[in-house]
Amino acid sequence: MSRIYAAITGVNGWVPEYRLTNAELEKMVDTNDEWITTRTGIKERRILKGEGLATSDMAAEAVKGLLKKTGTDASEIDMLLVATTTPDMPFPATANIVCDKIGAGHILSYDIGAACSGFLYALTTASKFIETGTYKKVVVVGADKMSSIINYNDRATCVIFGDGAGAVMLEPSTEKVGVIDSVLKSDGSGRHFLHQKAGGSLKPATLETVANQEHSVYQEGKTVFKFAVKNMADVAEEIMVRNELQGDDIAWLVPHQANKRIIDATAERMHIPEEKVMINIERYGNTTAGTLPLCLWEWEDKLHKGDNLVLAAFGGGFTWGATLIKWAYDPQ
Ligand code: UT7
Repeated sequence: MSRIYAAITGVNGWVPEYRLTNAELEKMVDTNDEWITTRTGIKERRILKGEGLATSDMAAEAVKGLLKKTGTDASEIDMLLVATTTPDMPFPATANIVCDKIGAGHILSYDIGAACSGFLYALTTASKFIETGTYKKVVVVGADKMSSIINYNDRATCVIFGDGAGAVMLEPSTEKVGVIDSVLKSDGSGRHFLHQKAGGSLKPATLETVANQEHSVYQEGKTVFKFAVKNMADVAEEIMVRNELQGDDIAWLVPHQANKRIIDATAERMHIPEEKVMINIERYGNTTAGTLPLCLWEWEDKLHKGDNLVLAAFGGGFTWGATLIKWAYDPQ
């Protein structure tokens, strides 16, 4: 019997309308466009405004568009995963809420929390349910409302993050297309450098934790930067070596959009020129689990069947990883 691959058969993205520009941030904190642009590559980021709107709303919009594009009825979905660091609430899972909002059936749905590597963790997990023949249609979402955990008085973090969601459909294929290989790693000792101090079981919310801004992202940027540059490049190289691929064999590098300098360093290690690297950080900033599917969505019409894509990410946890995908379809 031939092996079943988990092919990506559609992709969609959704970002809020509101654009938070560097010029606007200059009025909020002591920063400037020149610093943000040269240190991160970011010009603007999208922010979800409006009472009662959460990560699940962005995710649901991304999935509804995906269903339309792929001609799928919500009742046909067998499983739905949401990678997120900003769930609507500690429980239930945002994936459950998304299923309700899109009108899916009573299916297996859960969240995966692996910060910026969340989409790769979820994609790899979902692919196993397809490869084993368990399910036929699995939706994988990466979505984060980072603005809900950002302190807009902290210039070191507020310039970086944005909101957005992307989703892909996975279906079985007996052709060798889809998720080919993944290398996923974690190192919990990295938690000290990038985390949210309060709101979990370690430090439940109190008036004091709120006053001290402990429900916002805490990041020691320089340390995280060093780990990100090394580990993202290492893991991207590892997946190329074990699949016997050279830079020329890769059609696209799809890197997590945390910092343009981290992206450049990874591309250099892989011997991939900038024109083969998906970069949209200047328009969306770091949307955490959203960056990778948002890139695939924006580049979809440039992707051809058989193209080798290496997706690579690094983030809180620490978590990091790389996934090799053979694209499954030509532009529509
Ligand atoms: O996606 C999850 C994983 N996260 C990452 O991969 C992020 C990795 N880290 C980074 O991308 C970078 O470390 C940052 C963009 C966060 C910061 O860039 P940096 O070049 O590492 O700057 P730094 O933190 O070392 O700060 C350099 C200087 C400091 O001033 P002094 O001490 O030299 O006077 C900061 O206070 O820049 C200052 N600074 C700013 N200045 C203007 C920090 N943030 C800002 C700002 N505007 N927004």
